[in-house]
Amino acid sequence: MKRKLTNLLVTGGAGFIGSNFIRYLFEHAGFSGRIVNLDALTYAGNLENLADIEAARGGKSYFFERGDICDRARVEGLFAKHDIDAVVHLAAESHVDRSILGPEAFVKTNVMGTYTLLDVARNAWKGRDDVLFHHVSTDEVYGSLGDTGYFSETTSYDPRSPYSASKASSDHLVRAYNHTYGLPITLTNCSNNYGPYQFPEKLLPLMIMNMAEGKSLPVYGDGKNIRDWLYVQDHNAAVWLVMNQGATGESYNVGGENEWTNIDLLMNLIGIVAAKLGLPRAKIESQIVYVTDRPGHDRRYAIDCSKIKRELGWKRSVEFAQGLEKTVDWYFERKEWVAHVKSGEYAKWIDKNYRAR
Ligand code: NAD
Ligand code: DAU
Repeated sequence: MKRKLTNLLVTGGAGFIGSNFIRYLFEHAGFSGRIVNLDALTYAGNLENLADIEAARGGKSYFFERGDICDRARVEGLFAKHDIDAVVHLAAESHVDRSILGPEAFVKTNVMGTYTLLDVARNAWKGRDDVLFHHVSTDEVYGSLGDTGYFSETTSYDPRSPYSASKASSDHLVRAYNHTYGLPITLTNCSNNYGPYQFPEKLLPLMIMNMAEGKSLPVYGDGKNIRDWLYVQDHNAAVWLVMNQGATGESYNVGGENEWTNIDLLMNLIGIVAAKLGLPRAKIESQIVYVTDRPGHDRRYAIDCSKIKRELGWKRSVEFAQGLEKTVDWYFERKEWVAHVKSGEYAKWIDKNYRAR
């Protein structure tokens, strides 16, 4: 199946994956339609991420609309104003640690926000089949693995943090709108993304910046938790492929087939950063501090992405060593971006919650 989607509503387009998605479409995918970026600009959303795109395309093929996905009237207005025929739903509260400290925002945005978008789409599209609601979700909905095994699309949901529970709930709503009302939907569940524009509260950018600034490198628990890492534009290529060619109603798992314990990943990163900064690696290693574990910390995530490879021909294109080095370079070249995004709400939040750690 091949869809022709022209007027996209991208939610959360000022965040990490969303801003890279918009860039991917305009710069790499040859997309010639219009993108409407609906973002509330929480602490995680930053219009600097798309300043060049705004300058080149603003008001022509790119439109930024500030707003909350829970605001029904606002979303309805955008569907009508821009004649939306596809939603790419990325807006979310995305950080597990924040969900443990304050779950309410996660329920509001991830559950109620998704419901609001689905319901507006259902009413605006009324039985059309030339439209699509694509939901971007996470592998965390499947819970936690032991030493062996992989999450496949048929793995039972077993979310264990407020973040993953809210994402699981949103996934179920998306499927329910397809099953009950016939809303055309597709879904992707991806593993840990890395790359430029990731907010520096997440493991990789946090560690890169703390290494450069001589700050401590906080490893949760024993450092042996395992994550699977994928370059953000490989994820975005998968999302766009599924939107264009994925079967309606289907979910696709996306992953890097690239598992690392946190401590091994950190050691790898230290090697790269030490070489770039001309520092002895022992100096950076001495910054490692083992801290209290994340409550309920999932032990291992690993993705079986054979479905999207087999059915749609997707494969990852960025090797991890290359992607990691590119990412380190990006953060070192964009220290002003980091300082800026950390200067507002994030700084206040860190002060309140982590000062004593
Ligand atoms: P992010 O936190 O960097 O960005 C989220 C964006 O959503 C921000 O721009 C924020 O301003 C916006 N937003 C938040 N609440 C909003 C609301 N109520 N209304 C409108 N906009 C709002 O997140 P990310 O890492 O880019 O993740 C994007 C999506 O991908 C999320 O749905 C996340 O669950 C999913 N995902 C992320 C990863 C990952 O590794 N980062 C992996 C798999 C899936
Ligand atoms: O798996 C996909 C998910 O990946 C996405 O759905 C989430 O939105 C995204 O935030 C990410 O969740 P994680 O919890 O895996 O990512 P985070 O970067 O917060 O942590 C990665 C691992 O590193 C995790 O095992 C916790 C650990 N960690 C994290 C931080 C911030 C540390 O040891 N120290 C830290 O300071």
